Amino acid sequence: PETGCLSIIVLGASGDLAKKKTFPALFNLYRQGFLQPDEVHIFGYARSKISDEELRNRIRGYLLSDKNASPEHSEGVSKFLQFIKYVSGSYDTEEGFQLLDKEISEHEILKKSQEGSARRLFYFALPPSVYPSVCRMIKRCCMNRSDLGGWTRIVVEKPFGKDLHSSEQLSSHIGELFDEPQIYRIDHYLGKELVQNLLVLRFANRFFLPLWNRDNIDNVQIVFREDFGTEGRGGYFDEYGIIRDIIQNHLLQVLCLVAMEKPVSLKPEHIRDEKVKVLQSVLPIKDEEVVLGQYEGYRDDPTVPDHSNTPTFATVILRIHNERWEGVPFILKAGKALNSRKAEIRVQFKDVPGDIFKCQKQGRNEFVIRLQPSEAIYMKLTVKQPGLEMSTVQSELDLSYKQRYQGVTIPEAYERLILDTIRGDQQHFVRRDELKAAWEIFTPLLHGIDNGEFKPISYQPGSRGPVEADELLAKAGYVQTHGY
Ligand code: BG6
Repeated sequence: PETGCLSIIVLGASGDLAKKKTFPALFNLYRQGFLQPDEVHIFGYARSKISDEELRNRIRGYLLSDKNASPEHSEGVSKFLQFIKYVSGSYDTEEGFQLLDKEISEHEILKKSQEGSARRLFYFALPPSVYPSVCRMIKRCCMNRSDLGGWTRIVVEKPFGKDLHSSEQLSSHIGELFDEPQIYRIDHYLGKELVQNLLVLRFANRFFLPLWNRDNIDNVQIVFREDFGTEGRGGYFDEYGIIRDIIQNHLLQVLCLVAMEKPVSLKPEHIRDEKVKVLQSVLPIKDEEVVLGQYEGYRDDPTVPDHSNTPTFATVILRIHNERWEGVPFILKAGKALNSRKAEIRVQFKDVPGDIFKCQKQGRNEFVIRLQPSEAIYMKLTVKQPGLEMSTVQSELDLSYKQRYQGVTIPEAYERLILDTIRGDQQHFVRRDELKAAWEIFTPLLHGIDNGEFKPISYQPGSRGPVEADELLAKAGYVQTHGY
């Protein structure tokens, strides 16, 4: 690992994302020894005119909100907060960024006696509307000019535009200022344990190699459900909708890892090359393979317009036009205010030909990867019902992480991804051409929704979503299996 001073600059430090995700992730990295106290300094930057102590208190409040926190935990939090300094300034004038640069440089000079380089990591916990000006300001005022060597990197988060055109505009803008190896586009689903497991499962197990194709797999479902609505962020959500919020990024990234060919190696570029090929092979979405929904009460939120057409639920079938997947529907489904909170991948196999047990109505073989909650990998299969009769029953081979890996803490997605940005590993980040290909798939449908050509169907909060979505699944060949 590199050594020397590391400055982590959290832009938008007084906002919600920073408080709930960025600072807790940094704290966990610090606690586990990944941020060395003699090297690292954290700078918060935002418009609010608050003091170092006020920012620290906000973060402390959040980090200590767990009532069961031990005295060691509070002590750790206090030590961590000492590394945080706050600088206030606007996002579009040089003044604040010059001040920020001065503070960072002082830290670097202070550490100059040490071996190693000077590293600057800018984390954008910001609304995308200010990305262009912030990038310009960093480039003008805050690049690492240290004679110690090192680097400057930026971490940006979705939404990267609203459609192909606006996303490409943003990409060109950032691309003029920073090189691709300096840009880390976060999709936090790529930091989830079981998403990171996908390549291992697929390419390190002989079982799956011959089965993972159109000859054996009937359909693939990638599902995201939340049992709460958009309360508190209706204004943001209404501008984007469920497809831009979840499907075009999180679920599509998962699809890539499920569907891609084996990469030449584990080098980030090799992996991302294969993901792009999958995206480029997706056929245009058919109108009849889309069901949109909006939960009742969504428009009661005062920040949501009375006539909003924004979907809070969508089921969309994607079809991959290549030798492995021709004819296999990839069903992407996401919804807010549903009956449960769950994210999972369900790979459903075709029926066994010439069934002599008459067991087909009990369900098919299914391979399920549950991303959350309670991470698990399980396989539904048919076995003999124990007892004197020769009858069959569906059962599971189950790898539940809680039971199998007792005492192992699964890292938070943001923690892992921030560590990757410090280490310079772009494997779990979205490359520019990947982003473009993802927008190409969804832009026509999104424009149709924005123009009012597609209307969401109303559904009850706490339900499974519109019944039309279940009907679409059945038409696509999905056979409902018994819950597990
Ligand atoms: C975010 C979306 O990207 O992901 C939110 O903007 C959503 O709407 C969240 O709630 C879900 O993340 P997770 O990790 O809880 O599944």
